[in-house]
Amino acid sequence: ETVEWDPEQAGKGEYDHFMLKEINEQPTSLAQAIEGRVDSTTERIALSDFEPGTFENVDSVQFVACGTSYHAALYGSLTLNQAGVQSTALLANEYSVSAPPIDDDTLVIAVTQSGETADTLNALRRADAEGARTLTVTNVVGSTAAREADDTLFIRAGPEIGVAATKTFSSQAVMLALLGQRIAGDLRNGPPADLESLLPALESMPTDIDALLDESDAETIAERYRDSQSYFFIGRGLGFPVALEGALKFKEITYEHAEGFASGELKHGPLALVTPETPVFAIFTGQEDEKTLKNAEEAQTRGAPVIAVCPDGHPAVETADEHLAIPDTDPELAGLLANVQLQLVSYYAADLLGRPIDKPRNLAKSVTVE
Ligand code: G6P
Repeated sequence: ETVEWDPEQAGKGEYDHFMLKEINEQPTSLAQAIEGRVDSTTERIALSDFEPGTFENVDSVQFVACGTSYHAALYGSLTLNQAGVQSTALLANEYSVSAPPIDDDTLVIAVTQSGETADTLNALRRADAEGARTLTVTNVVGSTAAREADDTLFIRAGPEIGVAATKTFSSQAVMLALLGQRIAGDLRNGPPADLESLLPALESMPTDIDALLDESDAETIAERYRDSQSYFFIGRGLGFPVALEGALKFKEITYEHAEGFASGELKHGPLALVTPETPVFAIFTGQEDEKTLKNAEEAQTRGAPVIAVCPDGHPAVETADEHLAIPDTDPELAGLLANVQLQLVSYYAADLLGRPIDKPRNLAKSVTVE
């Protein structure tokens, strides 16, 4: 007797889709990403991928990326700015017409899961031609972007099969946060930043995500709001790239309309769209949360159900209609925990709609044309 062997099916293990498998792999992929790269006992970032002082001449950083990688780049850029380094995140496909000035002390960082995205390669090549230093943050060893940049940092997330990026986003964001602290440290030429809270929080991320995955109410929320017209995601500071990513994931796999906004922007236009048919996912990262709460309440007053993504005991739990809980952590990482809840909401919403989750229509895992 022969048994039909479908390698794709086998690869999914106990899961119905690669996406759900990859969401659940995040405790492992993140542990792999930080392995040997942080040391909370000495409070040091041991990013031995780079020689000491590698970044001491950098005067500004430009990130270039597309899609989900752009959201990770935005996350990285914000952490650099918060660490006192001038930095900006740019869409790689806009770079040829909108690149800020470059000189040989500019560090251009390409963020690309595959290392093969044509738009990102073009931006990297342009930066190189203009004399910038280049660095690629990627998942794929031997990829074009890895080979062409002056330096490379691998995120070690393992293969990602689902077209919609999940585990690679969290690994990119974490590696960029570490890289940012490292760059800031080299530039300061002095004692490192206070990493007393960040490093232990990083080390407990795998456990935190495990706990979150075990107790998530994402499926219930997806079911409750399945007949909505549009889905909004709001966040401030490091919650903003997460709001953008939450909305992108939602549109990619559910085909429903979704938008991400900076919390404070809601009142500058998007509020006109808000009705009882537009659930608002509000992401709280511990950065001016009281303002985000006020923005969420402005939507709630217009009838929108508010889903607060925040730790238990947070003031938003009191006023919101629903709560997706995240473990308490450092503000630099809270958004990444919130993002896991949002990945699950998108997944379950798409599953209820019967969408082909791992291969959404019209999309490719890696876009190698301009
Ligand atoms: C495609 C994929 C996205 C991905 C983007 C950038 O559009 O569908 O999921 O975020 O490319 O890919 P990269 O490999 O450069 O991260």
